[in-house]
Amino acid sequence: MTVQIDIDRLMGRIFALGKVGALQDGGVCRLALTDEDKQGRDLLVDWMTALALDIHIDGVGNIIGIRKGRKDNAPVMIGSHIDSVATGGLYDGALGVLSGLEIVAALNDHGVETQRPIVVVAFTNEEGVRFAPDMLGSLVYADGLSLEEALGITGIDGTTVGDDLARIGYAGDWPVGGIQPHAYLELHIEQGPVLETEAAEIGVVEGVQGISWTEITFDGTSAHAGTTPMRLRHDAGRAAAEFSVEITRLAEQMGESQVCTIGAVELHPNLVNVVPERAVITLDLRNPDEERLKAVEAGAAELLDRIAERREVGVKTRKLARFEPVAFAPAIVDSIEAHAAKLGYSSRRMYAGAGHDAQMIARMCPAGMIFIPSKNGLSHNVTEYSAPEEIARGAGLLLEAVLDLAGVAKATGDTQEATRQ
Ligand code: GLV
Ligand code: MN
Ligand code: MN
Repeated sequence: MTVQIDIDRLMGRIFALGKVGALQDGGVCRLALTDEDKQGRDLLVDWMTALALDIHIDGVGNIIGIRKGRKDNAPVMIGSHIDSVATGGLYDGALGVLSGLEIVAALNDHGVETQRPIVVVAFTNEEGVRFAPDMLGSLVYADGLSLEEALGITGIDGTTVGDDLARIGYAGDWPVGGIQPHAYLELHIEQGPVLETEAAEIGVVEGVQGISWTEITFDGTSAHAGTTPMRLRHDAGRAAAEFSVEITRLAEQMGESQVCTIGAVELHPNLVNVVPERAVITLDLRNPDEERLKAVEAGAAELLDRIAERREVGVKTRKLARFEPVAFAPAIVDSIEAHAAKLGYSSRRMYAGAGHDAQMIARMCPAGMIFIPSKNGLSHNVTEYSAPEEIARGAGLLLEAVLDLAGVAKATGDTQEATRQ
């Protein structure tokens, strides 16, 4: 008997977690460290407890469940996140964590003991919309930011990470990064249209593109919208609008690999008959090539200088996140590709467009990711969807890759022992 994942059980958990923070028209809002995030965490901890995992909460609130191996050596870590954007779907992040649980459940069912321990992790605040930067829990785990700095971050609601962790009861005492993994694997939805368009069943992820997030504040003067001639205004709203159009045009001129998003805009005082005195916008720039990312950042800085002068407004910038592109370990990428072929799945190599916890943990150990198709290429959208058969392929492939890395020590009542050593 071969170890197999139970797709109905996995879908049951995806739908159950999807009820936590459910939105009326589908999808979820489980922003990091909110009450909904706490409810999702509690459910995850209940499931981990039922699976007999040894559970730890670390100082930044990462939830870590350990399944013992025959040896007490470096574990194979499976992870992702259960926080969402405010208009999120059921699969972004949840798929990776719950597939990790399903693998543990399948191994338990079949009495399979692995040589290395298997660790399932849900990292805190991957999305970064309530507290920047994104991938915060995995960043601290990989020692890319101190715990103290992370706990002091103030979010969009005016609270700090430390306060909210304590408030929801997830300020743990386990040391962050205390377990050095042998390898890290993450199953995720693609969140883009490539796999669906090319009818490929699996994305073998070679790396993650670089990310640059900046908050930009334009400071002008409030004035009467009827009485103030255009040439005498210091219109912060107009400056923000001009910058948004010009940086987007520049990004388009840099070719397809450059993406640019002005995702948040706030005007003050935001009234019909008042010239805005202040505009605060966010700029998200991404490119798989670090030099090109630096070039577009320099272009943005020049544009800001020019527009500030032209519109006679002040400009202040605040870096919210900056991560260089990451290439995953070739041995892990090759192994995922080979296992996909062995299972008969069509695959293509690709770069990840979104940020992922795997890009942080890749600083500590060989890491890799598996993608499955996203319907209509949509994610960060309540209609986000991947079919159960696509999820089954991804989770089955994850299981094979995990067993390869962890090594099977004993499989009660089956013949896998000899073949999986
Ligand atoms: C976070 O997941 C991002 O890619 O924005
Ligand atoms: Mn995600
Ligand atoms: Mn996301």
